[in-house]
Amino acid sequence: MNNLVIPLVDVRSLIPSLAAGEVGGLLADTRGRRLSDLRISVTDHCNFRCVYCMPKTVFGRDYPYLAHGELLSFEEILRIARLFVQRGVRKIRLTGGEPLLRRNIERLVEMLASIPGLELTLTTNGSLLRKKAHALREAGLQRVTVSLDALDDATFRKMNDVDFPVAQVLDGIAAAEAAGLAPIKVNMVVKRGSNDHAILPMARYFKGRGQILRFIEFMDVGASNGWKLDEVMPSAEVVQLINAEMPLEAIGANYPGEVAERWRYQDGGGEIGVISSVTQAFCSSCTRVRLSTDGKLYTCLFAQGGHDLRALLRTGKSDEQITAAIGAIWSARDDRYSEIRTAATTAQEKIEMSYIGG
Ligand code: GTP
Ligand code: 5AD
Ligand code: SF4
Ligand code: SF4
Repeated sequence: MNNLVIPLVDVRSLIPSLAAGEVGGLLADTRGRRLSDLRISVTDHCNFRCVYCMPKTVFGRDYPYLAHGELLSFEEILRIARLFVQRGVRKIRLTGGEPLLRRNIERLVEMLASIPGLELTLTTNGSLLRKKAHALREAGLQRVTVSLDALDDATFRKMNDVDFPVAQVLDGIAAAEAAGLAPIKVNMVVKRGSNDHAILPMARYFKGRGQILRFIEFMDVGASNGWKLDEVMPSAEVVQLINAEMPLEAIGANYPGEVAERWRYQDGGGEIGVISSVTQAFCSSCTRVRLSTDGKLYTCLFAQGGHDLRALLRTGKSDEQITAAIGAIWSARDDRYSEIRTAATTAQEKIEMSYIGG
């Protein structure tokens, strides 16, 4: 939660130190992991109240969202993004909350798309895609990932908890496809007892469409989603279930550090992915860093605190100073939460996913 952010390190004290973990000009953390993906949360608001992310009981009318002045401006985001690209980042993903709720998001996309050598993508709940897909593509966005947790309205409405219909998300996906934001990936969070009956219908629907469905294990992110281990359906079970009806075979990763494990249909119907952060942690190849809506840098999705880059921006620090701070933060990184998850870590205060981005 925003008001629970505890800075682990005062980044200002890191500025003079050189990046200790620099290898051949590229940054490496204490476990030898490179920095290559930056995920930027552009708003902590969302028009959904997914039960595993922003449950209504916590994210009600009086929830203390960030004030406008606390958000990084587009210019500030662009400046930070450029510095990250100088330090080796090759992929930027815009997230939220729901990123399409940020006013003039297409302008930010256009600004970021001007950085050479960058893959630029966005994760959305799809509700505003019909309206925005074309403008996003024109602005230079390359792909989108859309979250969708069921194909039947009753289940989907229960998961999003705002009575949002499936048809409108499917229509958003169609608009994204037509605009050329492909290949589209579809993320389904599987919560045992809530939407596991939707796995097969989702697999059948997306098979042969060229859209890549990925099943995500329900994770203990944040402190408000009431996570319980017995509500996690291991990806191995998901694969088994689908394989029994539509035979699958494992295929290799597209790139080192890809979070999804890929499987393809033996009959040529395309591929699916499984993201198994609980049962098969992938921390050893984690190259991601996250920038929150208000400019704090988190080196893990499950971090308890961030490093305040906004303070550096707003106190007139030079590009060199900020770049050095980024280097020092990454070089000191030791995170591997999913590998060492226990009942005690699960109970810790953690940053909410809607604030830090997925
Ligand atoms: P592409 O391969 O480019 O499509 O990107 P991606 O799979 O990294 O992106 P996406 O945002 O779709 O990631 C899918 C989901 O995996 C996220 O929404 C998270 O739920 C989960 N995830 C992504 N990165 C991490 C991570 O570093 N740690 C953990 N535990 N989960 C992650
Ligand atoms: N467990 C797993 N995935 C989650 N997401 C949000 N909260 C959780 C959670 N608790 C996923 C969303 C979306 C992405 C941003 O993160 O479904 O695809
Ligand atoms: Fe919103 Fe995405 Fe969180 Fe659902 S998972 S509440 S759509 S930010
Ligand atoms: Fe990376 Fe942290 Fe996720 Fe492990 S738990 S993969 S270190 S973000």
